[in-house]
Amino acid sequence: MADGQGYGLLKGKKGLIFGALNEQSIAWRIALACKREGAEFSLSNAPVALRFGELDKLSEQTGAEVFPCDVTKEDEIEELMQEVKEEHGKIDFILHAIGMSPNVRKSDSYQKLNYNWMQQTLDISAISLHKVIRYADEAGILNEGSSIVALSYIGAQRIFSKYSDMNDAKALLESVARNYGSRLADRGIRVNTISQAPTKTSAGKGIKGFDGMYTFADKLAPMGNPSADECADYCVTLFSDLTRKVTMQNLYHDGGFVNAGIDEEMINDLAKLYGEEDREAE
Ligand code: NAI
Repeated sequence: MADGQGYGLLKGKKGLIFGALNEQSIAWRIALACKREGAEFSLSNAPVALRFGELDKLSEQTGAEVFPCDVTKEDEIEELMQEVKEEHGKIDFILHAIGMSPNVRKSDSYQKLNYNWMQQTLDISAISLHKVIRYADEAGILNEGSSIVALSYIGAQRIFSKYSDMNDAKALLESVARNYGSRLADRGIRVNTISQAPTKTSAGKGIKGFDGMYTFADKLAPMGNPSADECADYCVTLFSDLTRKVTMQNLYHDGGFVNAGIDEEMINDLAKLYGEEDREAE
């Protein structure tokens, strides 16, 4: 938003935002955009992230309460939903911006995954969406017509080797969004995933080879990689009343990457590189 004023798209709406760790976090940018658009919300992150992160700063900036919750622990999620109920009554949107893979962090190859870690990857990054929706619903805090958004990545559809078991986690995350979306649709509750382009955050930079993935996507996408702030603007539209019948979708926010075949500059450079190698081999 050039003028920083916003459109008042979320005026009167209340929400819960998971996953803001520092200023680079996509959830942090989304929280600022939600504030700009007039929403009130609570913030949540894992207790360890609250100790090492900078969430107090965002809390001061937005007036949002911070509630600790490890999203792998059902009792903590249940308690969180009661706290949110006391704070807001009912809410209109939830952002799930949570992802972590111990296998990716350790850069183990896909053929040699540590299965305990893989369980953690799936639990933290995908099954947690199911748990969050379930306990929000059981606490009765989801308003009719509310909107739930989780952040995904194109690794769910295409193989990005360095993304390892996070490819599997994102495929499961998108499936949970579709499945839960079908079950909440009769109350007008939307569940979608935004498939965001590589973005320079703590989670992103934790992937070995991230810079190459970032540049590749940026070159191939006709519009280039969208920033975290641009992702936040898109997310606001999904939380708003302007997208009331958009549900069970995985929505690409990637500057056109998903449908791009070739970038002329990249292909010319590759042709030169491999052409020369071919000649040398002759
Ligand atoms: P980030 O590192 O700022 O956010 C990840 C968050 O997950 C952190 O706040 C972390 O504390 C939280 N988290 C990890 N384990 C948790 C647990 N057990 N309980 C509660 N919270 C936990 O990084 P980023 O990039 O903003 O990630 C947000 C989402 O966006 C993730 O789902 C990520 O996979 C997704 N995404 C990121 C892309 C990128 O290139 N950075 C591209 C596409 C999607």
